[in-house]
Amino acid sequence: MNQHFLNRRQFGARCAALGLSLPTASAFMAGQASAQDAGAGAESPPAPRTVTFPNGTVVPALGQGSWHLGQGGHPLPVEEEAMRTGIALGMTVIDTSRNYGEGRSEKFIGRVIAGQRDKVFLISKIQEDEIVAGNFTRAFQGSLSRLGTDYLDLYLLHSPVPKVYLTRTVAAFEKLRAEGKIRAWGVSNFTVDKMEELFSVPDGHRCATNQVRYSLRYRYFENNVLPWCTQHKIPMMAASPLGGIEDARVLLGDRTIGQIASAHGVSPAAAALAWVMRSGNVIAIPESGNPEHVKENAAALSIRWVPPDA
Ligand SMILES: NC(=O)c1ccc[n+]([C@@H]2O[C@H](COP(=O)([O-])OP(=O)(O)OC[C@H]3O[C@@H](n4cnc5c(N)ncnc54)[C@H](OP(=O)(O)O)[C@@H]3O)[C@@H](O)[C@H]2O)c1
Repeated sequence: MNQHFLNRRQFGARCAALGLSLPTASAFMAGQASAQDAGAGAESPPAPRTVTFPNGTVVPALGQGSWHLGQGGHPLPVEEEAMRTGIALGMTVIDTSRNYGEGRSEKFIGRVIAGQRDKVFLISKIQEDEIVAGNFTRAFQGSLSRLGTDYLDLYLLHSPVPKVYLTRTVAAFEKLRAEGKIRAWGVSNFTVDKMEELFSVPDGHRCATNQVRYSLRYRYFENNVLPWCTQHKIPMMAASPLGGIEDARVLLGDRTIGQIASAHGVSPAAAALAWVMRSGNVIAIPESGNPEHVKENAAALSIRWVPPDA
């Protein structure tokens, strides 16, 4: 079994070393959310949340996105420190794509993970235009080269393609998997209808995940894709879990989120991320180029939202 997460003691120690004060047991979400791990004290945070893929790989339920990183949003060294901080705090699932900044995000990640490739669960994506143009192999090799690695933990089809291309893409993914160049493959932005179509093509049921936008600001997939994935025993990945670069400020400035968060001694971002992960079958991949924000986000790994009637 691949392990890309820290145990309880390691997580606590890393947080302390990075100057992050963890929520205490009494600070866990209550009311709409209530503390689940009532026995845990400040020195003993609960074990970080994990999610299991169909192939048995266990990963932290919280990773890091990179759509806008390595592209001048923040000073480069600051962004690199932010992602390294996240990795050190157990946010080891790293999501990117060839088209994020036309490869600049992948190059950025390649620099950050140099020397610590084995610590991260690395995801990249291929686009529809590359598949239609017959550039699958070239696109994959380009991603590997920019990332400075010889394998991906997960390779995703970024958006739905017509069925004829879907069949070919699944076959190409399976070939890479058989060759050991990817550990698993999945899709992104697939509705339930598209997931049904995927599962109807040869080997389509080997899909490991569906990555879709999901946050307190955008709940469109909550009552369709999420239960479908759970029923088919595949995790859902939550893209833009803080509402996206345009809406994160609105979500994190929301009065109710702020009240719930401050009542329990956590940041609004940590509360919002814990909410996204609450089902136990969702991996959230917030993006931040700010080390202090990353520390806040990492705290979500040890927060439990529990329904009021639990
Ligand atoms: N498959 C797809 O089609 C798809 C679509 C969208 C996104 N994604 C993936 O999902 C990742 C995340 O999505 P996203 O970048 O759209 O949006 P997001 O993670 O929901 O929000 C990012 C924004 O939140 C801010 N932020 C992060 N942590 C914060 C904190 N603790 N306090 C205050 N602000 C905070 C960031 O600013 P700072 O940098 O200043 O912290 C940034 O402006 C992407 O990077 C990408 O990997 C995939």
